[in-house]
Amino acid sequence: MWSVSTAAPLRTAIIVVAAGSGTRLGRGAPKAFVGLDEHTILRHCLRGVFDAEPAQVIVVAPEERVGTALADAHEAAGPRRELVTVVAGGATRQASVAAGLSRVWADIEVVLVHDAARALTPGDAIDRVADAVRRTGHGVVPTLPVVDTIKRVAADTITGVVDRSELAAAQTPQGFRRDVLVAAYERAHTEFTDDAALVADAGHEIDSVAGSPLAFKITTPADLDRARALVSADPLPSVRPAAPATRVGVGTDVHAFGGGGKLWLAGVAWPGEPALSGHSDGDAVAHAIVDAVLGAAGLGDIGTHFGTDRPEFAGAHADAFLAETARILSRAGWRVENVAVQVQAVRPKFAPRRGAAERALTDALGAPVSVSATTTDGLGFTGRGEGVQAIAVALVARA
Ligand code: CTP
Ligand code: MG
Repeated sequence: MWSVSTAAPLRTAIIVVAAGSGTRLGRGAPKAFVGLDEHTILRHCLRGVFDAEPAQVIVVAPEERVGTALADAHEAAGPRRELVTVVAGGATRQASVAAGLSRVWADIEVVLVHDAARALTPGDAIDRVADAVRRTGHGVVPTLPVVDTIKRVAADTITGVVDRSELAAAQTPQGFRRDVLVAAYERAHTEFTDDAALVADAGHEIDSVAGSPLAFKITTPADLDRARALVSADPLPSVRPAAPATRVGVGTDVHAFGGGGKLWLAGVAWPGEPALSGHSDGDAVAHAIVDAVLGAAGLGDIGTHFGTDRPEFAGAHADAFLAETARILSRAGWRVENVAVQVQAVRPKFAPRRGAAERALTDALGAPVSVSATTTDGLGFTGRGEGVQAIAVALVARA
């Protein structure tokens, strides 16, 4: 398993602030927990975070969403889940960042602060910020050039033009040396527009690196529409729970006495006993096992694989059915762990040949088969001796 201690020492933490209420989005739920598809804004944001170089990840969530945030973060983290911390936020973004800062591990040197609302920020945009902080020791803000012409207005009147070349739009994550950010937060007693402004106010230099057009902040319903359109074109790989390693299946079969020839049941011949009728040799025990095994592996049933289109099985005995069933399973990546089958019949008397039947079935299937037998107290078609019923349970495992 991936382990922090065997990788390069972790020197970076990323605080993902997700504790806002999303008033401007107006969805009635905290913004980070609004869905872009079946996944939340926060979950999408964490894809970029975990695509970036490994870092401690601190998610700051509304108090009542800490559990949901933890589930999202663990799902996004996969094998890196030990890097995740979730903490309750505060009344302002600045208070939420401070809550996150209080949980940064002791040996972290660089801290990035990221808005969950910038849900589609790619991992490389995050790495660019961390690398620049490490290289320069300065605060770092990702920016995009401003493309619109910017005017100064007073009420309805244009009062001037601002030179666009002097402007840039700031994004997150913004990155800082840990000691610088902690000290700046300790001395900050007013609200700043962003972390870079707070750190600059403490007298530190702030640099700019290239931001990403995908790192736009989801603020208004139009932003949400844009993010949803982008996500539907490039969905998160769907996160399915791991398929269980073992599965069970059940099968039953019934055949009436009345066939020609001799009786074949549970993989052995029974001289002197009346035969069962049916396609193939009427071996209800073998057929119940085939259904149980195929059903356990989710591979259909006896009719799916041994229908009339396979005439070679028309007169076949248990050994052919069970060997082919084992091959079908193996091709699909499964193996049989064991099968238990019960025969309900007044005849033949099973006890004397139970061992022989178990050996024959076990050899044919290549997995342990146990056989038990019962009469049904004279009741029903088995009790009247009209036929035989078998019920099988199979356990299969990933090969
Ligand atoms: N944020 C936070 N704690 C707060 C306020 C904001 O963690 N008390 C986070 C938001 O969750 C968001 C980021 O800061 O990821 C940027 O804030 P903003 O876009 O303003 O989000 P909201 O405050 O949720 O939205 P609004 O201002 O429309 O209510
Ligand atoms: Mg806000």
